[in-house]
Order: sequence, then C-alpha cells, then structure tokens
Amino acid sequence: MRYGHFDDDRREYVITRPDTPLPWINYLGTEDFLSLISNTAGGYAFYRDARLRRLTRFRYNNVPPDQGSRFLYLRDDDTDRPPQAPLFWRPTGQPSPAPLENYECRHGLGYTRLRTSQSGIQADLRFFVPLGENLEIWQIRVTNQRKRPARLSLFAVVEFCLWDAWDDATNYQRNLSLAEVEVEDGVIYHKTEYRERRNHFAYFACSGTPAGYDTQRSAFLGDYRGWETPLAVTAGRLSNSIAHGWEPIGAHQLPMELEPGATSEVILLLGYAENPAASKFDPPGSQTLDKRIVRPTIQRLLEPEAVEQAFRESTAAWDETRSALQVETPDPHTNRLVNIWNPYQLSVTFNVSRSASYFDTGIGRGIGFRDASQDLLGSLLFIPDRARRRLLDLAATQLPDGGAYHQYQPLTKIGNNDIGSGFHDDPLWLVLATAAYVKETGDFDILNESVPFDNAVGTETSLEDHLRRALRFTLDRIGPHGLPLIGRADWNDCLNLNCFSDSPGQSFQTTVNKDGKIAESVFIAGLFILASQEMVALVERRGYPAEAESLVDAAHAMETAVWDAGWDGAWFRRAYDDAGRPIGSAECQEGQIFIEPQGICIMAGLGLQDGRARTALDSVAARLATPHGIVLHAPAYRRYYLHLGEISSYPPGYKENGSVFCHTNPWIMIAEARAGRGDAAFDYYLRINPSAREEQSDVHRCEPYVYAQMIAGREAPTYGEAKNSWLTGAAAWAHVAMTQWILGIRPEFDGLRIDPCIPSAWDGFKASRAFRGRNFRIVVRNPDKVCRGVVEMKVDGVKVPGVVVSADLPEGEHSVEIRLGR
Ligand code: BGC
Ligand code: NOJ
Repeated sequence: MRYGHFDDDRREYVITRPDTPLPWINYLGTEDFLSLISNTAGGYAFYRDARLRRLTRFRYNNVPPDQGSRFLYLRDDDTDRPPQAPLFWRPTGQPSPAPLENYECRHGLGYTRLRTSQSGIQADLRFFVPLGENLEIWQIRVTNQRKRPARLSLFAVVEFCLWDAWDDATNYQRNLSLAEVEVEDGVIYHKTEYRERRNHFAYFACSGTPAGYDTQRSAFLGDYRGWETPLAVTAGRLSNSIAHGWEPIGAHQLPMELEPGATSEVILLLGYAENPAASKFDPPGSQTLDKRIVRPTIQRLLEPEAVEQAFRESTAAWDETRSALQVETPDPHTNRLVNIWNPYQLSVTFNVSRSASYFDTGIGRGIGFRDASQDLLGSLLFIPDRARRRLLDLAATQLPDGGAYHQYQPLTKIGNNDIGSGFHDDPLWLVLATAAYVKETGDFDILNESVPFDNAVGTETSLEDHLRRALRFTLDRIGPHGLPLIGRADWNDCLNLNCFSDSPGQSFQTTVNKDGKIAESVFIAGLFILASQEMVALVERRGYPAEAESLVDAAHAMETAVWDAGWDGAWFRRAYDDAGRPIGSAECQEGQIFIEPQGICIMAGLGLQDGRARTALDSVAARLATPHGIVLHAPAYRRYYLHLGEISSYPPGYKENGSVFCHTNPWIMIAEARAGRGDAAFDYYLRINPSAREEQSDVHRCEPYVYAQMIAGREAPTYGEAKNSWLTGAAAWAHVAMTQWILGIRPEFDGLRIDPCIPSAWDGFKASRAFRGRNFRIVVRNPDKVCRGVVEMKVDGVKVPGVVVSADLPEGEHSVEIRLGR
C-alpha cells in the first residue's frame, strides 16, 4: 500500500493523504538556516545548531507528533456562510474541526508545497529557504473557487523557542519570566535574552496589511485550548498582545476579499539575524532592538517577484549539485535514488549529522565524529569545498594521542565533554574520509593544513600528522589476541564490552567499569587494515617510503591476528569480551554471526584470494539476509547480558539488537562486488532501497524517498517496519556501494576507475560524472550478460589499456565507452 507516488520529472515525492503512518518530512535550507517540515507543515527551525539556536518550538512526545513551527488557519469571515460550512480549517492538513476536502503535499529538493482545499477555497502553500539568507519563506496563495465572493482571514502563527531547546523544554521557573518581543511596522521580533548576553533575534514578517497581531500565546489560544481551536481564530480577531514572559509567539491576521476565481497571495518570512555585540540597540543606549540589518531583506523578500527569483535560484543550485553524477540504468529505483534522493539525503546528513530529525530531537547529539566522516564518503563529490572544511573541523576535535571526541556541537565546533572520547574506531574513519576527498579532488595540499588538537591554540600540526596519529591510536591499544581493544564501543555504539551496567539510567557509553585491556574488536581490525591501505597510498605519493613500509607491516600483522583469532571457520568473528570469550562465533548461544566484520574485513580485501571471503558472504546470505535486508546479527539476544551492554537492552530485532541496521548493508554489497558477485550486490541494494520498498509503505511506514536507520528484524513483532528515517550513514554508504562498486565508477589517486560489477541481467548503463574539472560521459555495454570484467575501454573513441581514466586528460567533456565480457 502507498500513500503517494514519485514525480521524477519534478523531482518530488507526492503525498496524497495527510495521515501517513508517520510524519513524512522534508528539510529546508542547506547553509546556516535549517528547518524540518512535515507533510502537514509541522517541524522546527534553527540556525546552525538545533539545540543551541532553536527558533521555533517542537513539543516532545506530543500527539500528533508533527505540530510546531507553522500554524496556519483559514477562516471564513462571511456572515452569510451556509450553515454546514466550517468557520475555519487548517490548510496544512493539521487536525482541525473541519478536515480538508482535498490534500496534496509535494516534498521537493529544498522545498515543500501543499495544495489543499475546503469549501471552495483552495490554498497553495510553498515553503523554502533561499540561498544565502537566514530565513524561511512561506508563500501562500488562496483562490476562491466558489461562485460567490469570499471574505476570509488567514492566520499565520509561529511559536518561538527561547533559543536553547533543551533549556526551553525544561527550565520553566526561569523561562516563563523571560520572553520579550517588539512589534514594528507589522513585523514581530523575538528578542528574549537580547538585553543581556545574546546579540541575535528572530522575526516573523508578512506582506500586505495585517489586521492585527498577537505575541502572547495565551492571548491567541485562550485558556484550556490547543492549536486545533484557538480562541482568536474562533473569534476572528487578534488582540495585539505583547508578550511579557510566558510563551512568545508571532501571529498575523491577514484579511482577504476574493471575487469568484480570484487569487490572493501572501508572503511570510521567518528569519534570524545577529547584530554586532557592541551595537545591538537603536538608538544606542536604548533597549530597542537595532533592526536595520534586516529591514532591507524583509522589504525585498516580501515581493512575489523576488521570491520567485529566489526559488528559481535554489532549485537551479540543486540541479547543479546533482549534475556531478547522473545515471541511466535499467532499474528505476536505482536511477531515482542516485539521481535525486540520495544526493539530497546526503546534503541533509552533511548539515545535521544525527542531530535533528523526527527521531533525533535536536537536543541530544551534535555532529558525530564517525558519522560525519562516513557521511563525507557520499557527499564530498557534490560539495568538495564544504567537505574540506568539515575534514579540518573534525580533525580539530582529535586529541594528541590520536583519539577523538565522539561528537562536537555545530555552533561551537568544540568537542562534547559529556560523551567524551574512547570509541576506538572513531579516528580511523577520518583516514578513510580524507583519502576519499583527496581521490575525488586531487587536493593533496589538504594534508599540509595545520590543525590543532582539541581546538587548542598552539597544538597545531599537519592534517597528515593527525591521520598518522589516528592509526597509531589503534596500534597503541592492542589486546591479548593482537586485535584492537574496543574501548567504549566501536561502530556499534551498543556493543559495550567494558561497561557491565546494572543500574537503570546509567549510560552504556560513558560508564566504564572494566580496565579495557581485554575486550577486542575484529571490526576495528578490519577497519584498521582498510585505513592503513589508504594511508600507505597517501604517504607513498608524499614520498615517505619507510613509513609506507612500516604501515604495510602493521596491516599485515593485523591481518595475521584476524586470521588467527578472528576467523570462526565460516565467517569472521565480531569481538572478544572482557573474559576473553569470542562474540559472533558458532560457539555462542546467541549472536553467533555479525554483519559488521564480514563487511569491513572483505572491504579491506581479506579472503578474496583464498575463497574465505565468499564463504563468509555465503554465511551472511544463509544466516543474516532477510527479504527486508540483512540483519546485524543472529540470533538476536533474547535477554540482557551484563557483559555485552546496550546491544542486549533492546528487544530482539530492534536497533542494534539484530535489526536491519541499514548502514551496514552496503558494506556487504561492496564485499559482494569485490567478490565479483554483482547479482547478489544488487539484490541486497534493492532490499533496502526506499523507493523499491514504496509499495509496502504500510509495513515500512517511513518515507519512501530516504533511507531509515533501521528496519525491524525478523525476530521483532513489527518485522519490516522502518524507524529513524533521514539521519543515517546508510545514505552515504548506499550511494558509495551503488555508484562506486556496483556501477564501479570509483575515484582513485591517479584517475577515475570504471570497473562495474552489475547484475548480469543488465544490458549496461550510462552515466555522466564530473571528476576534477572534467566531465565523463560513460556508456557501459554488457552484451555477454556478465557481472564483471572490462574487456575494452575507449576514451574519446580511442582504445586504452586498463580500467582507469587518467586524471590528466584536458578539462572538459570526454566520452568513455566500456564493454564488459568474458
Ligand atoms: C545507537 C543508540 C544508542 C546511542 C547511544 C547510537 O548509536 O543507535 O541506540 O542509544 O548510540 O548514544
Ligand atoms: C548510530 C550512530 O550515530 C552511529 O555512530 C553508530 O555507528 C550506529 N548508530 C550504530 O551503533
């Protein structure tokens, strides 16, 4: 069952009913001003940091869950209204005494549109954040489809958050006495705490001539009423209230008189601005907000032509971004994801990491070190300059011993002390991300950039040295089997082998009551080998052969340790616990085989020569693969194990306890591709591809246009149900697996490798790919119906040996023709 459909030509997902199983959301903004918008226009807006600079409130654990941010009402002010006609309704599809007669929501790249109608009044709403602006535009067109004139009022409301979303949600005793606003020329300014240490404010402006405003929530809603039936809308007028403490809002009333067939357009702006700390007031010495910085913007963007222009620029920018890689394969789900939605989701994970979604509240996490590093693997192709900055920011949260803060706050870029460091896989991901960046861009200079540790002035050293220390960090922490010590956790945040938590509420990640000298991770071993291969290639090109050699030796020793202690006979083991017992072994009762080490070890090349990789992948197929994707481990843990940590705290089949944790599935796709099995790789790809799952939307329940973090595993009662959509490393890895390993278009230090491993049924495919100032038009033909094997490559019509297109070709367009065969 579906709740809508894809409109690929417009690059939109069209939702045809407001009651999707969960709010199906979109993101607005790609720079500093960001907001979430659901299919009924709920959500929240923030500036850079969803916790520290929240503009509008989101009410946690609320029902329905998608309220917030954008409250709109259309009121029929006609006194001769037919008796059955509703007095007012909500054109966004939010709960209201009068449900909509027609509803359609279109989530596009960077914008959301709604077209709804009730009693002959059609509303067309468009929401987006213009490039280079710190504001969100609401463009609202109301059309009278009745046969008689209509007199209406549009009420448009935002509820302000007192900036720090955590404090706002909890610290009532202070916050209820703080709020301050100003209203000037019909613009509502929210300036709580501006008189003291803040120099930023928000505003809510509207075009036309408003009939009134409210800024105190209680005046608008009335006592004992909620957003469904506000008193002011029922009464038909706002009372020009000024908030002093309590809950500040911005509400505008816009009257409209419409002849039959006539349309009226209103523009609203929800914006954010900062003044220099030393000149916040106008006139100086007063307590009045200096608004000069925003007046011209407000004036300009309340004009429809300017809004149209801004909208065109924002969609053009999206087309430009996406154009870096476009493909035409026989599979529509692949095309849709690779060409449209996957790059889009990648821009969101780049911007918010795991901080702000309908599952991540924006008050918990900041930017995760390993998360952001892995996200870059997918997004750097589209935004190489921003990727460069991000790499340097991440490296600056490394510690001198090579370890890293697990997270940092986007506003301050300072490592988060609450969670701290000690996740022993973290630093290695930076090596992969940096290598991927250099391969994409050829920008070896980034390695010379000087970067501090823990953001401390005076500790600067080259990025190259940061990477060196990242690898050293692993080698300095080796356990009894010669494998890396796991620390608080590795990629699986919930495999906490040094925690042994027996008290409710304790953090599995930061409570450590073992000395950490026994429990080891096979996963980190594989990751180390992979990262050291990248580093070897980098330092060889930088002219340090001795260093390369010693790294090769270290990786070799690690590989030996994996074969000695990490191979279980038919698959790779997962870890060793604090008592030195294997995890992820046939000798375990539960959790006999885990997906992560099969993926990472084979990605690092282990077992590809001697058949053991295929054996491990066959074990994955037999024991972990389900129609809904590959589960993390099997059997899932049925009870809580003190020595395993958070993993066994989840009921079987959920989250880290044996769900299909989508992030890891592409590792198996890559491993299958490395083993030459394109059919298996593609089959796994389709199992989690959200578009391919669209037709089971009633089971999947999350948005069909983006990956979700998890799909409940087969041991869960809700098997097949996705959760935690949008903010997941699955977006990056699925993109990498499909484009670099299945389609096989893979940047390398010296050029672009094109070595597909596709489903044997495909006749071939086409792609257009930007690479270091060149654009390659690639045509792959597969007449013999093989998965892999390039028998001929022509560049600009001329046969060339090998499968790597040189990075030294002149800039501009080039054609690449490839024939696969036996
Ligand atoms: C996991 C969560 C866990 C959290 C701890 C995440 O990576 O997915 O289930 O609660 O780490 O911070
Ligand atoms: C989500 C976290 O953000 C990520 O860092 C982690 O690797 C996975 N969960 C698995 O635990």
